[in-house]
Amino acid sequence: MGISNKHIVLGVSGGIAAYKSADLVRRLREHGAQVKVVMTANAEQFITALTMQAVSGQPVHLSLLDPAAEAGMGHIELARWADVVLVAPATANFIARLTHGSADDLLNTLCLATEAPVMLAPAMNQQMWQDPATQENITTLKNRGVGILGPGVGDQACGETGPGRMLEPAELVDAVFAVFASGALEGDKVVVTAGPTWEAIDPVRGITNLSSGKMGYAVAEAASEAGAQVVLVSGPTCLAPPENVRLVSVCSAQNMYDAVMSEVGDAQIFIAVAAVADYRPVSAAQEKIKKHRDTLTIELVKNPDILSAVAQRDNCFTVGFAAETSSIEKHAREKLEKKGVDLIAANKVGDGEGFTADDNALLLIDRGEMRSLPSMSKPQLARILIQEISKRYHAKSPAQDSRRAHR
Ligand code: CTP
Repeated sequence: MGISNKHIVLGVSGGIAAYKSADLVRRLREHGAQVKVVMTANAEQFITALTMQAVSGQPVHLSLLDPAAEAGMGHIELARWADVVLVAPATANFIARLTHGSADDLLNTLCLATEAPVMLAPAMNQQMWQDPATQENITTLKNRGVGILGPGVGDQACGETGPGRMLEPAELVDAVFAVFASGALEGDKVVVTAGPTWEAIDPVRGITNLSSGKMGYAVAEAASEAGAQVVLVSGPTCLAPPENVRLVSVCSAQNMYDAVMSEVGDAQIFIAVAAVADYRPVSAAQEKIKKHRDTLTIELVKNPDILSAVAQRDNCFTVGFAAETSSIEKHAREKLEKKGVDLIAANKVGDGEGFTADDNALLLIDRGEMRSLPSMSKPQLARILIQEISKRYHAKSPAQDSRRAHR
């Protein structure tokens, strides 16, 4: 699972974004991938082969006719070695030549010769990207099954603004992970809660929190990529639900509790990522509360604990999140025992960390080992979390596994 020991051919064509390719190699290798770099002649105008060799720890491939290749056929050897070919940056010229099946340099030729998935991260001036010729080429390549990653929108090296920026290395790493998303949860039903809850005070006011839902949505997407049938029970967020995930939208903690309870009966895994309000007003006013009084007291009552309730049922592998502002490990261990769950993913919140941020770091705590996952994008973190959950779930439930094998 993941990209550990996967063979990645990174093609670099001649665009200014090539300076990011070195960072991309470093990140892929940090996840255990083996990376071989192929550069076009123009790419060498932007970044040196020496740099790419240093970061990849492998000789860089520059020429179609390479006497150093074992059988003198570097393109075939690389094409066979690759588990995936990622071209980043992919310039307009490279894209055009690939569309037309050119085999006039090593990178184009190996893209034609490989059976591995080919993915391109376009990088060019926004006008060039929007030109009908480029757009037609992209459509043709997509129809042939080539993965097109991005481009991003924003300020460009040429001083213009618009679509055409190469995706950031971390986003490209996510895309490579997705290629290898395993069927680790094939046939399993996973219920995920996400987002905040809304506890009404009156028809226009309520108690909520700063949860963006990003982590929960990323977890739901990663579980779906791993082959699970996913139900995402979400409080109010601004996010679009991931593809292939069934969304159940709820408001209050009680709504979330009811929706989860009606879904977990036939589920194998429950992952509680939502930031559920601990208390709700004893009763919500029917009319908007007027400011007649100088002070206003709202009496609150405790909400049901969804995670504890699911953990008690004993049919699901349960995973909780622990959002803490201090003493993370201590509080997380307390929650593991108090709620009787199988795994706690703890993270620090407050000071811009956690809830609204795009990156996150987690401490995974169960009754055995503890594992720390360093700060990375939430989708990337979610994929690793799903792998860790799947490992533990399969170790705990071999009976379910053998039942699945006979289905
Ligand atoms: N949780 C839940 N239902 C609740 C409260 C929390 O399912 N009513 C889940 C959360 O989704 C999370 C875990 O329990 O997975 C821990 O949530 P957290 O807010 O960190 O802990 P609490 O149980 O609310 O404890 P405290 O606020 O005292 O830290």
